Amino acid sequence: MKVLNIGSMNLDLVYSVDHIVQPGETEASFALDTFLGGKGLNQSMALAKAGVEVYQGGMIGEDGQVFLDACAEYGVKADYIRTVAGKSGHAVIQRDKNAQNCILLYGGANQQLTEAYVDSVLADFAAGDILLLQNEVNQMPYIVEKAYEKGMQIALNPSPFNEKLDAVEMKKISIFLLNEVEGGQITGLSDPDEIIAEMLRRFPEARIVLTLGKDGAVYADAQQKHFQPVFKVQAVDTTAAGDTFTGYFLAGLLDGMEVPEILKMSAKASSIAVTREGAVPSIPYRKEVEQALADV
Ligand code: RIB
Repeated sequence: MKVLNIGSMNLDLVYSVDHIVQPGETEASFALDTFLGGKGLNQSMALAKAGVEVYQGGMIGEDGQVFLDACAEYGVKADYIRTVAGKSGHAVIQRDKNAQNCILLYGGANQQLTEAYVDSVLADFAAGDILLLQNEVNQMPYIVEKAYEKGMQIALNPSPFNEKLDAVEMKKISIFLLNEVEGGQITGLSDPDEIIAEMLRRFPEARIVLTLGKDGAVYADAQQKHFQPVFKVQAVDTTAAGDTFTGYFLAGLLDGMEVPEILKMSAKASSIAVTREGAVPSIPYRKEVEQALADV
């Protein structure tokens, strides 16, 4: 069974600020740091650091060698990454003194996927293989349709949730990994238990992983439901916390672990990631996560 992640690769421009700038306000930042990120790349990195062999797909611009170098460094397979004319994607991130952030995306190369490209990548994958997706690349409906036709299992992190997902046939998704904001946007509800119930009503065969920020995470499918609290830490940067959780959760499933153990491992991995700056560099390796769990 192979794991493919067709997703975004961004250069994250992180501005440290006192507070997230308000409409009409001008605010000076304390510092500017540049990190590798993108929900796609972050989640592949989390999978790779958790010990999973993962293929990253997607597009980079002429400035994108840095993404290929990072894939080589961290063991993410880059065979399906293509370089196109123009710039790679980037994100302008404000990180405030409470480690909260807001993110403005520039799609760049992430929005240049073609049907021919999708076909060429999927040609190397088969029934039972896993496809991980977020919503930072174009061609989402086509990717889902073609992967489903092949019998691939599709895991979707519907982030950021927007109208582009309206055309995606959600019944074709096997695993949803989403936060409470995205869960609210999909279901129109705000209570986590109600979100879960509604997701299972609409998608009875799916597995649902709902992260709740400082309130933990919930897993549910037709047979079981589990809650995992957060591990309390002093956060410095919450960027990629959800991506870390997603990658580790899938890694645990692929390892055949029990759901409560997977949730615990994913929560611990995220709790480590938020104590470090940046996206890709903040994601811990499996050994560190397991050691930290043993120390609890
Ligand atoms: O989830 C965090 C990521 O969202 C950042 O790395 C940024 O690039 C955006 O894609």
